[in-house]
Amino acid sequence: MSHFDALSSKILDKTAVSGIVGLGYVGLPLAVEFARAGLPVLGFDISQEKVDILNRGESYIQDVPSSTLGQHVKSGKLSATTDFSRIAEADTINICVPTPLRKTKDPDMSYIVSATEQIAKYLHPGMLIILESTTYPGTTDELLLPMLEKSGLKCGEDFFLCFSPERVDPGNPNFQTYNIPKVVGGITPACTELGRQFYSQSLQTVVPVASTSVAEMVKLLENTFRMINIGMVNELAIMCDRMGINVWEVIDAAATKPFGFMPFYPGPGLGGHCIPIDPFYLSWKTRQAGIEARFIELAGYVNGQMPHFVVDKIQNALNDHAKAVKGSVIHILGVAYKKNIDDVRESPALDIIHLLKQRGATVTYSDPYVHDLSHEGQDMTNIGVEAGCQAADCVVIVTDHKDFAYDRVLELSKLVVDTRNALKNFKSEKIVRL
Ligand SMILES: NC(=O)c1ccc[n+]([C@@H]2O[C@H](COP(=O)([O-])OP(=O)(O)OC[C@H]3O[C@@H](n4cnc5c(N)ncnc54)[C@H](O)[C@@H]3O)[C@@H](O)[C@H]2O)c1
Repeated sequence: MSHFDALSSKILDKTAVSGIVGLGYVGLPLAVEFARAGLPVLGFDISQEKVDILNRGESYIQDVPSSTLGQHVKSGKLSATTDFSRIAEADTINICVPTPLRKTKDPDMSYIVSATEQIAKYLHPGMLIILESTTYPGTTDELLLPMLEKSGLKCGEDFFLCFSPERVDPGNPNFQTYNIPKVVGGITPACTELGRQFYSQSLQTVVPVASTSVAEMVKLLENTFRMINIGMVNELAIMCDRMGINVWEVIDAAATKPFGFMPFYPGPGLGGHCIPIDPFYLSWKTRQAGIEARFIELAGYVNGQMPHFVVDKIQNALNDHAKAVKGSVIHILGVAYKKNIDDVRESPALDIIHLLKQRGATVTYSDPYVHDLSHEGQDMTNIGVEAGCQAADCVVIVTDHKDFAYDRVLELSKLVVDTRNALKNFKSEKIVRL
């Protein structure tokens, strides 16, 4: 029997041991989904702490309930380890490790490289490897393939290699790992077919594409599309501010057009592990080919200015009350990078806090999802909405969590700068909108 047929029958009868390398926001939900479908799942992470928590059946990711995770751990379908030699037990591996940017905005491939080195050591015939980390087009083909083929095994015959972009949207109640269509592209048609078969066991819709590069580019198109449109609408917000026009009303009215328009909303700046970062993977790669990604660079610039714009708005709002940022107490409402989640990575709140402190303000915060915040070497603690609003000269809504009682916020505050239109339905002299 060929390696293709052997792996295919293991996948179809759900005995393929599914390894997941990197058990974070992407890897853990995926592990739970595979286990739910009945596949035996073995997770790998360099964090002993995460592995221990997972093996106790507890979840450290908001979108994964401990009850669901615990049930799969208890039944023996799901376990985790820091012992990478156990990759030898796996039939499939999904790589879900971080892909941050370096300070120079160049891709930091060190996590992918180190995970692939571990996999290469234990690669065996009949294995399927799928990279899920967001990266530049060409990574799977140019970087992973040679590292894995060093073993002497041939891709497409002995082992199989794919790229499949992760599209998880933390905090989204309607779309979770199982019902977000999964794009997958392989190095060879046999790789793509095994990738398709594998995901079809646990996910609702699988979308095969012709190559790993197409699959890599799909993810970058999606995130670049968002980043550029947000940049455009942020610039529109700055223009409207100058002209005294309510940008939110403009967007809502434009969105009544039933075709050819999709609303994007301005805000205090981009946040999270994806939208502010991924497009720079593309611009880095295209620079190698002599093409400058001008839209990306421009949107990056405009979006990067938004925390400054917000701080200027705070300054102007305080001036109208004969105060200045210097010496004022400013309370930040919401520090997560978007509503209803606990993730503060790249959150614009961090930039705003930094800029306000730099201008001499005392800054406090409240966020129902973020109890402690370590910021530039200083620890900040969630002081609660009531105490925070009451004591502040100005309250700034940076993240519009659904849990905030906005009527109470308005009642308790002297002045509110609203960067998210959270107070859309309120009228008050105290409100300054973006
Ligand atoms: N978080 C999202 O919403 C999201 C959405 C789509 C795509 N992505 C992409 O998915 C990838 C993973 O993102 P994430 O948010 O899950 O990151 P994360 O930081 O939450 O998780 C990554 C995990 O990998 C582990 N890790 C690091 N190096 C490792 C190694 N060599 N071997 C094993 N484990 C290792 C870390 O300890 C961590 O647990 C990134 O490329 C990201 O851009 C993330």
